[in-house]
Amino acid sequence: MGSANTPLATATSLAIMTRDLNLWYGDFQALFDVDLDIKSGIITALIGPSGCGKSTLLRSVNRITERLGYVRTGGSIHVHGKNILDPDVELLQVRRQNGMVFQRPNPLPLSIRDNVTFGYRLHREERGRLARAERDRIVEESLTKVLLWDAVKDKLDQPAIELSLEEQQKLCIARLLPMRPQLLLMDEPCSALDPQATSAIEELIWDLRGEYTVVLVTHNMAQARRASDECIFMLMGRVIEHSDTGRMFVTPTHTETADYIEGRYG
Ligand SMILES: Nc1ncnc2c1ncn2[C@@H]1O[C@H](COP(=O)(O)OP(=O)(O)OP(=O)(O)O)[C@@H](O)[C@H]1O
Ligand SMILES: [Mg+2]
Repeated sequence: MGSANTPLATATSLAIMTRDLNLWYGDFQALFDVDLDIKSGIITALIGPSGCGKSTLLRSVNRITERLGYVRTGGSIHVHGKNILDPDVELLQVRRQNGMVFQRPNPLPLSIRDNVTFGYRLHREERGRLARAERDRIVEESLTKVLLWDAVKDKLDQPAIELSLEEQQKLCIARLLPMRPQLLLMDEPCSALDPQATSAIEELIWDLRGEYTVVLVTHNMAQARRASDECIFMLMGRVIEHSDTGRMFVTPTHTETADYIEGRYG
């Protein structure tokens, strides 16, 4: 079942393909033999009880876990056909292509405009000043895409932290878009938001579908059901079930999945 047996043609038609993915924090093993095929252009929800490894899995696709010196990863993680764990892969490139959104919106202490262009300036190949016309185009396009442009177009110079939490989270999604990410990895992006803001963010995620591949970690079963095409259920570092979301919620294959979605676990 190793990566060597997997034809590359299969790999490239998928957004994410992991094989024998194992991850240790020091001596503690957090992921066990994770084999996943995540399709491109859809929303895949990642569910399971607290501590089952959802964030660890998501972070390993961005290699952000490696910031901790004591993390060891085995196996492979192909993103659009390229194993991001290969030694020739540039970490900065991986971070640029696989954008992350966190639980609490974390805008930089800069203006709304500079938040949108910050990553782009950092990652773009040409050095030097960003031409004003290009900058304005990027800012408008990105903010329009996250349904924020009309609300902020007259206050682009104001500090981003003055926005509401919902707007801040939209901005945190917008700032990834100029880098043309292959994946949007969202770790409970609505957990700090009220129901109205949650539904606004869900709508936005749904709008991004097709153009982007989204992996969405959530504790909210209703959200997983409403806002995803496919669903992955994890338990104690292992993938138990991966299927069409409708099917998983109506006729789950495993009793553990049924127990979880019916609220019989913490
Ligand atoms: N930085 C770390 N160092 C050591 N162990 C960690 C670290 N981060 C997570 N773990 C452990 O790895 C396991 C998986 O954690 P992870 O955060 O991925 O779970 P999760 O499914 O995202 O949980 P939650 O739903 O609470 O966010 C847990 O046992 C956790 O204690
Ligand atoms: Mg988590």
